[in-house]
Amino acid sequence: MTDYAPTPEFTEQAVGQASLYDEAADHEAFWAARAREYVTWSQDFGTTLDWSDAPFAKWFVGGELNASYNCVDRHVEAGNGDRVALHVVGANGDDRTITYADLLREVSKAANALESLGVTKGDRVAIYMPMIPEAVIAMLACARIGAPHSVVFGGFSSDALKARIEDGEAKLVITSDGQFRKGKAMPLKEAVDRAVPGTTAGKVLVVKRTGIDVEWDDERDVWWHEVVDSASDQHEAPAHDSEHPLFILYTSGTTGKPKGILHTTGGYLTQCAYTNAVVHDVHPETDVYWCTADIGWVTGHSYIVYGPLANGATQVLFEGTPDSPHQGVFWEIVEKYKVSILYTAPTAIRTFMKWGADIPAKYDLSSIRVLGSVGEPINPEAWRWYREHIGGGSAPIVDTWWQTETGAIMNSPLPGVTTLEPGSSQRPIPGISAEILDDEGQPLTEPEKVGYLVLTKPWPSMLRGIWGDPERYKDTYWSRFGPEYYFAGDGAKYDADGNIWILGRVDDVMNVSGHRLSTAEIESALVSHPRVAEAAVVGASDETTGQAVVAFAILRQDGETGGAESDELVQELRNHVGQQIGPIAKPRQIMIVDELPKTRSGKIMRRLLKDVAENREIGDVTTLADSSVMNLIKDGMAKPS
Ligand code: PRX
Repeated sequence: MTDYAPTPEFTEQAVGQASLYDEAADHEAFWAARAREYVTWSQDFGTTLDWSDAPFAKWFVGGELNASYNCVDRHVEAGNGDRVALHVVGANGDDRTITYADLLREVSKAANALESLGVTKGDRVAIYMPMIPEAVIAMLACARIGAPHSVVFGGFSSDALKARIEDGEAKLVITSDGQFRKGKAMPLKEAVDRAVPGTTAGKVLVVKRTGIDVEWDDERDVWWHEVVDSASDQHEAPAHDSEHPLFILYTSGTTGKPKGILHTTGGYLTQCAYTNAVVHDVHPETDVYWCTADIGWVTGHSYIVYGPLANGATQVLFEGTPDSPHQGVFWEIVEKYKVSILYTAPTAIRTFMKWGADIPAKYDLSSIRVLGSVGEPINPEAWRWYREHIGGGSAPIVDTWWQTETGAIMNSPLPGVTTLEPGSSQRPIPGISAEILDDEGQPLTEPEKVGYLVLTKPWPSMLRGIWGDPERYKDTYWSRFGPEYYFAGDGAKYDADGNIWILGRVDDVMNVSGHRLSTAEIESALVSHPRVAEAAVVGASDETTGQAVVAFAILRQDGETGGAESDELVQELRNHVGQQIGPIAKPRQIMIVDELPKTRSGKIMRRLLKDVAENREIGDVTTLADSSVMNLIKDGMAKPS
């Protein structure tokens, strides 16, 4: 049996030591110490945690700070201005190096420019950009002013962008003319032009990235290079309250309407910086860290922008995709920049496995000393491949479980302390408390019994609510097992060694390539098509993407179906979903059916559809209103299309 215990050499140099677990016995004292260790406060805080209005938490009460100052200025003040903050790897061969001193100038200019466009503290700013440094600069400039940003993933459609601008009532949108995708310039501002009319957004700030032609509205649109380049590079970072909103980030829930997850400043920054230090084992003076997420997701927020920059780390920012210009591009980057810490997603790892170990074998990956995984469960086979072929057979892998709502890592091994268990994120990190409850809310301790993962104590980077919807916040997270338990929405079990295994979502949320998608959101996109009467969507297991979207649709009676027309229609429906939500939401398969399996109360039994989608024996059909429906669906599937 392979022993995955840390080596003594690793343990000796590790940031996160075993003593942290002991220290965390005093929950609030532990977090107060982390807040003072990792964050520079302009005004020290008094009370560590105010939970009197639970589940609405206040952390580090009375404290004041500026997140942007913490991520940039203080490193320059400490004499590290020449340290590289970002090795920018462009998708067009145009690499750049940005030091902390450069970053300070750029963020200050951008903050001045945003103010000149009328953005003030409290205003929301939507950011819809590719993975270019201006995206990071824009986020930090917003944080500096105290204008919460709402980053919308650049792969989302203009409809999805519009819904998010409207919900957050954003005053300004920051975007780029276009973006490079596999060497080609693709439009981006175009989607903003369609999204903005009729919303609160009065101005659009546009970075020129590709030089492609764009429509221009002189009243509304402003070039980044015109207002930012000419702005002063001096900007005093004002102090903001610890609980001042830092950002809103939308994520899928069980209903069709995405939730605007609200994060505030002091607690969020504390936990991002602390976890990045102890889990990724970042030594800012020597490490080169690379998180391959997109800033449009929470991983990019916490582990590209706020955590590593607060720690003064040197990182890689990659604009491209793993297969362009070739399938070895990740490893070429690791070799070139001597990346020592790599944080990526299981779906990427499984893709690399499929492409073959001979590709990474062509590169020198000896700089790698820590590997991370995030976004979905990593299957032990992928874990071993990652360790063997990327980690040189020895790099610890930190499998980190967390969520948009938790803001930062919650369950993970500490690489210098924990004996690793492939496939499990193992246990809560010091400062976090989790349990597994059964259906009745009783704690499960026995191994292999499946229950629900809950968090039992408030934590600094916890969401502070759902933007504009406090009731939904309480209902979604704090009611399933009563107000003391945060219900994460994940099924989980212990193994015989006490490791926690996350078994995936227990609600109607799918996880496709580590991206959260709601079945309801895709169903409502499908029924918004004139030909569709009713739709049901399930997440079916998929070898590469973890889960894949499989849809079942009933057509309106007035249209023709069958034969070639139905193939075309399926394609049209897939594109329709892509247009409504974004390409990531396009179903892998759409099956046109005559009926859907429903209970007598009319609820669609997704469990049975999942059996069909995963080619399994159909489970218990006794609660179906009409038990012949499943035969019809199965027969329909067996027919060649
Ligand atoms: O189901 C869990 C899964 O991803 C969900 C959170 O998704 P999101 O808010 O988009 O954040 C993803 C990045 C933090 C969780 O409820 N998940 C995330 N990480 C893991 C995971 N499942 C198992 N193991 C993980 N390491």
